[in-house]
Amino acid sequence: MTAVLSPLLPGGTRVLVTGGARGIGRAVADAFAAQGARICILDRDAVPDAPAGWLCVAGNVAEEAEVEAAFAAMDAAWGGVDVALANAGFAMNTPTIDLPVAAWRRIVDVNLTGAFLTAQAAGRRMLRDGAGLILFTSSLYGTVGGADRAGYCATKAAVANLARALACEWGLRGVRVNALAPGYTETAMVTDLVAQGRLDRDRLTARAPLRRLVRPEEVAALACFLASPAASAITGAVLAVDAGWNANGGP
Ligand SMILES: NC(=O)c1ccc[n+]([C@@H]2O[C@H](COP(=O)([O-])OP(=O)(O)OC[C@H]3O[C@@H](n4cnc5c(N)ncnc54)[C@H](O)[C@@H]3O)[C@@H](O)[C@H]2O)c1
Repeated sequence: MTAVLSPLLPGGTRVLVTGGARGIGRAVADAFAAQGARICILDRDAVPDAPAGWLCVAGNVAEEAEVEAAFAAMDAAWGGVDVALANAGFAMNTPTIDLPVAAWRRIVDVNLTGAFLTAQAAGRRMLRDGAGLILFTSSLYGTVGGADRAGYCATKAAVANLARALACEWGLRGVRVNALAPGYTETAMVTDLVAQGRLDRDRLTARAPLRRLVRPEEVAALACFLASPAASAITGAVLAVDAGWNANGGP
């Protein structure tokens, strides 16, 4: 009989989620916590209704010292980190011809440099311990382009390839690195743009073969699977959870 690998997390898994105050990050934190994980959130905003025992660190992922402070809090409380999800990010829908360089720098700083700083701080601890999983939240726009989204598309593609590069660099030392590529997901990031008339919900769902947006908990389920023993050979992967959006080349 072949071995059967568990799709469940080891007890007490120590998980850091950036941008975990709401949206996809919060859903990931809740899903890990439901399996008994210990959770640390790094977010510029306060975490509403944070369960007892969660570490909540206020900070900006683009600032090295603030990222380090979150990992230091985990070191002090739990002695290290097993899973780090670099998830904090934002979208910008602006015609590129009008995009001020300051806005370009801001999206690179948060979406890309923030992911790098999170991975580097996690990597230092995981390489020391010879084990760990780093995840990035890329996007369907890490694979395809879209008008008025140059900064978002560029940073999300960069994050996907950062996952591949680090997977190559750290695989032999026990650290796996993967990227999540969500499609349009039911969070404030999307619903705010829909409310402002800058995104057309019907057009988004029409392209997805499942004819709907992704739910944050569906992204979270993929993150949990990747942290389980069942995913022990998955590294350097960019995994779509997009209701089929990216598979649809047709009208
Ligand atoms: N919602 C979608 O359709 C979708 C699709 C693909 C990828 N993503 C990506 O998923 C991630 C989460 O998106 P979401 O939809 O949950 O967004 P959201 O706006 O609902 O939540 C983002 C969270 O990140 C935090 N944050 C933003 N900038 C930060 C910073 N500089 N430092 C610390 N915290 C910061 C915010 O305070 C917020 O809590 C982002 O990287 C986004 O690009 C979202």
